[in-house]
Amino acid sequence: MAYETIEVEPLAGSIGAEIAGVDLSKPLSNRQSDEVYRAFLEYSVVFFRDQDLSPEQEIAAGRVFGEPYSIPFVKPMDGYPELIDIIKEPEDVKMYNFGGRWHHDVSFQEEPAKGALLYALEAPKWGGDTVFASMYAAYETLSDGMKALLEPLVGLHSGRNSYGASGKFVGGANSSRSMQIENTAEGDAVMEHPVVRTHPETGRKCLFVNQNYTVGIKGMEEREARPILDFLLEHATRDEFTCRFRWRSGSVAVWDNRAAMHHAINDYDGARRHMRRVTLKGDRPFREQPSAGAE
Ligand code: OGA
Ligand code: MN
Repeated sequence: MAYETIEVEPLAGSIGAEIAGVDLSKPLSNRQSDEVYRAFLEYSVVFFRDQDLSPEQEIAAGRVFGEPYSIPFVKPMDGYPELIDIIKEPEDVKMYNFGGRWHHDVSFQEEPAKGALLYALEAPKWGGDTVFASMYAAYETLSDGMKALLEPLVGLHSGRNSYGASGKFVGGANSSRSMQIENTAEGDAVMEHPVVRTHPETGRKCLFVNQNYTVGIKGMEEREARPILDFLLEHATRDEFTCRFRWRSGSVAVWDNRAAMHHAINDYDGARRHMRRVTLKGDRPFREQPSAGAE
């Protein structure tokens, strides 16, 4: 179906499109907002340029895509529980950056985020791009044999390597002085999600394992699960399943966290980068489309 009230320009073959003709600081017409949402589902991540958003306007823009909510572990912006500032300062050198490995946001939650809207207040002159990978493409290009092997598997997800008692952000290590990250006992909890999930809106299957938070596979030894997870990560991040977004101040990305992984490239030590994110409430991943016509 064509787009009539917005311009949609795909960025790569498997994922990502730039949308023009939309000012996210103002309420969108019903038609525009329907089309923007349709592009979000079709491309798994959509980008907008030259936006100027107050915190309230950013939250309102987030509502085009879902319901803003407050995430654990990262201290929100004062007065705005739905917003977090993601900042790397010029002096934050030689350390891990927030979002710096492949992940689905908060996949360790029972209901991982549906998606997120990320707004660049200050982009470095170069570097600091974000890369996205289509987990539809990753799933669909597996062999029938591998699909059958993965079908019944349950992934174990935990924030422990980031937010647990010995996570990488512990004691301020690896976190910018401009961000406050809280490590708690809850950070070590483990959540189960199907390795192959069915997208609740498109009905398409996608892989749902990632580098940051998938710590194992239910019922398997580490030495059994690790090679499978490593293979899936290597496969899912093949160049042809990805797109890479070059930020400018005022750019916005909105990703479908059910269908895409992402990571933030850390190649701009010495420059400042300031992003603001509104996270959207998700639902519990499931394996198959619930059967229709039960009533
Ligand atoms: C995020 C994240 C990516 C970036 O906001 O969820 O991973 O490019 N950040 O800052
Ligand atoms: Mn992220």
